[in-house]
Amino acid sequence: MKVAVVGQGYVGLTLALSASRAGHDVLGIDKSEGLVSKLRSGISHIEGIQDSDIRGILDNSRYKVELGFSDLQDFEVVVIAVPTPLSDNRRPDLLSLISACEAVAKNARSGTLIINESTSFPGTLRTVIKSTFEKFSQQNYQFAVSPERVDPGNKDFGIRNTPRIVGGLTDEARDKAIEFYRSFCDEVVSASSAEVAEAAKLLENTFRFINIGLVNEFTQIMNEMGIPADEVIAAARTKPYGFMPFHPNVGIGGHCIPVDPIYLQAKAKELGLESRYIALSEEINEEMPSYVVDRLVFLYGDLKGKRVQAFGVSYKADVADTRETPASAVLNNLKSKGAVVSWHDPLVKSWNGEECSPVDKGADLGLVLVAHEKLDLSGFSAPVFTINPNPKFPNWRPLLSVR
Ligand SMILES: NC(=O)c1ccc[n+]([C@@H]2O[C@H](COP(=O)([O-])OP(=O)(O)OC[C@H]3O[C@@H](n4cnc5c(N)ncnc54)[C@H](O)[C@@H]3O)[C@@H](O)[C@H]2O)c1
Repeated sequence: MKVAVVGQGYVGLTLALSASRAGHDVLGIDKSEGLVSKLRSGISHIEGIQDSDIRGILDNSRYKVELGFSDLQDFEVVVIAVPTPLSDNRRPDLLSLISACEAVAKNARSGTLIINESTSFPGTLRTVIKSTFEKFSQQNYQFAVSPERVDPGNKDFGIRNTPRIVGGLTDEARDKAIEFYRSFCDEVVSASSAEVAEAAKLLENTFRFINIGLVNEFTQIMNEMGIPADEVIAAARTKPYGFMPFHPNVGIGGHCIPVDPIYLQAKAKELGLESRYIALSEEINEEMPSYVVDRLVFLYGDLKGKRVQAFGVSYKADVADTRETPASAVLNNLKSKGAVVSWHDPLVKSWNGEECSPVDKGADLGLVLVAHEKLDLSGFSAPVFTINPNPKFPNWRPLLSVR
């Protein structure tokens, strides 16, 4: 098939690579000039995708990348994978999605299958995407949705072995989308409607969001009781059914987990409902940065004038992605206690307008936010604190369950 993929970020580039390796002719489209010129020179901007992967598909002429939109008349399938963040007032921000739809509508021919992979609330395909196409084009399109489930940094599950959910506005659209995904995914699950597929994605990430909130609260209770939460979680996970472990953290981040449940919450509010679970989990998860810093003060003492180095500022271990990272809130909290703060992350070169500092051998203390495999603290002799004790680093001091 001739496939255009709008947005060449984490989701779009991963898809473009798989589709092109499956034998489709893929055109990647992005609005970022820098990104497009990097990709054209065979340079990947996504961890997990190597430069050689990009060069491979460029060399066999199965992949091209363009800045902005040109003629899409030849294309049978257009996949949209653009950001769906929250606005400043924490409402779903669909501006990128709508502008991508407008541009595709002005360029694609009648009959093209439009697939949305961007995460949004149930009803987006029918009420936002289809309506935008109808506003900007007289042509008839087919519409399907397949929410992306990629887990950056996951070595066990990728695009091939993570089952795909596909829903469509018509059976024809859904079946054509299923045929497309079957060419590079082992298992494709057909949903009875687009809304089921859209809602499944929100349920998956809301499930994580709430369970992270639960474990963060549970950890605080264990701490007051002097019981090591990490050992409790390890003990509970020996149950072979009905339990899935989640781990406490300094707060949640990334483009999905803190954002997607708020899309569900916004939709519920429109209907006069509220998800109390989402509201409560959000509150608990957002408290974690200040809770962690309070624990540090309790265990170490006054931070005023102390040189504190934070380790790992991305939103989770072994990825360089700093979107929505809780590190900002932790660093601000440390600064508000008078600490002189620097950060070091072996995967993040620059963040928040600052360059990564080398490991500070003169620091008074360290705080591990996320423990990247590549984090090397040899030479750092000050005490290092962590919320998740790590058997590989027995010298790191636990912040919890210590009275
Ligand atoms: N990153 C993940 O782990 C992940 C996982 C599952 C689902 N998702 C969802 O997938 C969608 C895309 O996320 P992502 O992580 O790939 O985002 P990203 O920021 O990595 O990439 C999006 C790309 O789209 C481009 N873009 C934005 N508007 C455009 C437009 N109008 N025309 C052309 N290009 C445009 C941007 O320049 C960017 O390169 C989001 O809805 C996200 O919630 C992401």
